[in-house]
Amino acid sequence: MAIRDVLKMGDPRLFETAAPVTAFDTPELHALIADMHDTMRALNGAGLAAPQIGVGLQVVIFEVNGNPRYPEVEPVPYTVLVNPQLTPLSDAIEEGWEGCLSVPGMRGLVPRYAALRYQGFDAAGQPIDRSVQGFHARVVQHEVDHLRGILYPMRIRDLRNFGYTDTLFPGQNLQDD
Ligand code: NI
Repeated sequence: MAIRDVLKMGDPRLFETAAPVTAFDTPELHALIADMHDTMRALNGAGLAAPQIGVGLQVVIFEVNGNPRYPEVEPVPYTVLVNPQLTPLSDAIEEGWEGCLSVPGMRGLVPRYAALRYQGFDAAGQPIDRSVQGFHARVVQHEVDHLRGILYPMRIRDLRNFGYTDTLFPGQNLQDD
């Protein structure tokens, strides 16, 4: 398939609300997901949402497995999640550092629910229902925010905790995007 261009913050398409997918297991949906997968892998992203490649549909993918951008977090299995619904499992909030392929070269400290249940469908229309915590929960919230037109800098409580990756984490050689 193809590595697609990722829209960057400032592009108005990133602020739109994505539409639900209405037909599963179609060639078009599989092609979209293949392009998202190739693009995420090429850029070492932990996740990608369809609006980031200019497609306004409720499709996200994510995976954390020895990711050089997030070297110290627990693995998250490769997941395709369509039409997601999130339900927090408690009121507990955790702050953690996030980056985004649409905000290259930067990191910010973002509050997220510590644990949540997510439901949705895979590409074939099979239901997905998982309860997760920690970085897994964080990645899902970040990606689902993209479907609502929200980028992580919009959630940072104190903008002093937003900056360039190589300045915030000098010498750690974190990938610059
Ligand atoms: Ni992102």
